[in-house]
Amino acid sequence: MSQRLVVIGSQWGDEGKGKITDYFACRADMVVRYQGGNNAGHTVVFDGHKYSLRSIPSGIFNPKTVNVMANGMVVNPESVITELEKLHEQGITDYQLFISDRAAMVMPWHSQLDGAYETLKGNALIGTTKNGIGPAYCDKYSRDGLRMGDLLEPEYFAERLKGALAVKNPQLRLLGLPEYDFQEVYDRYMEIAKVLGHRICDTSDLINRALHTDAKILFEGAQGMMLCIDHGTYPYVTSSTPSSASVPVGAGISPKWIDNVVGVAKAYCTRVGEGAFPTELFDERAHQIRERGHEYGTVTGRPRRIGWFDAVVARYTSRLAGIDNWALMLFDVLSGLDKVCICTGYELDGKIIDYPPSTVSKLARCKPVLIEMEGWKEDISDIKDFDSLPEAAKAYVRKIEEITSVKVGIISVGPDRKQTIIIDEKLKQF
Ligand code: IMP
Repeated sequence: MSQRLVVIGSQWGDEGKGKITDYFACRADMVVRYQGGNNAGHTVVFDGHKYSLRSIPSGIFNPKTVNVMANGMVVNPESVITELEKLHEQGITDYQLFISDRAAMVMPWHSQLDGAYETLKGNALIGTTKNGIGPAYCDKYSRDGLRMGDLLEPEYFAERLKGALAVKNPQLRLLGLPEYDFQEVYDRYMEIAKVLGHRICDTSDLINRALHTDAKILFEGAQGMMLCIDHGTYPYVTSSTPSSASVPVGAGISPKWIDNVVGVAKAYCTRVGEGAFPTELFDERAHQIRERGHEYGTVTGRPRRIGWFDAVVARYTSRLAGIDNWALMLFDVLSGLDKVCICTGYELDGKIIDYPPSTVSKLARCKPVLIEMEGWKEDISDIKDFDSLPEAAKAYVRKIEEITSVKVGIISVGPDRKQTIIIDEKLKQF
């Protein structure tokens, strides 16, 4: 029977999922992306080379791995082509990649609308990646969207495109944005169909067949749980659900297959874009962590905001996504701090609460209840097993396990694949 593993971000994205998914992708027969689009930015480092992935699954480096961009994603075909071209330039030419015929397509007007909405909001902007993710999901749900499979049927595509432009062009006109000419878009997308057409298929069928073999299947989440459209810090969220709960719908499989979930969490917290962030640090320590952890956005280059590990968020995301193990990332970055803190609760209007409130206005009033622990000075980036970590570092890990009631199954002490301590036995088997 197949082995399944879901890897999700458990904070505000950028937790280092790229490294963990890459680690397991090397061992996986199939890697599936099931939500989000090219708003994600994974950096993968191995053999001294650095690769950036946006919408393509992390198994792309292994010729034997089947990579799937499933129906829950919003796929920007132009971006996929650019990504593949970059990989080709870096010598990655032998791979297997399939794209769902049911995946919503990100069209050029989506990124323009994304940018325009942000501008109109003024100071209340979301801080999106401006890749058109929100508008593409909106069109999916308002049924004005085009899907990847439409590209395979030129006449049907033409019909769908006319329908989409009938709705979109008046909106663009109202916003003072250039309108789209049917023929130009049609011709361009028929060119795209020539490049990507052979990769478009019923990926739900592909995945379900693999589930009934002894394949190792990795479901690769994008963004993080606090950016979830339902459970995150709305409206400062992305437009999909980055949870393990998205896998069944987003990949076209039964929920019964979801039984092993890794929540990737930084040993501290970061977020890009706007929105309340209770454990945010503003002093020299934030600067130190940002520089040591190279905390600048992969997609936008923006400096990330830095905060202490937030166990309120960790407990919440574990509850929502059924997290079996934490992968504690960038643990080496905390070395050198005199003291390290963990947030165990929030103080909201004089009361202590142990969950994130539903509105950002309340969240903005939350003050972190922190416990302070001894830091450690040692460089831990070459450590290969848990027992060899400094005592203070071990105590920090144990405290996170105790407060969140979830084991730390993986500790990452550096960007390279080799700098990964796997503690959990089931994860060692994958
Ligand atoms: P969007 O997904 O481009 O609409 O952006 C909405 C919010 O999600 C913004 O705050 C983005 O910075 C954030 N976001 C989207 N994708 C990622 C990601 O992969 N990592 C971290 N933040 C992300």
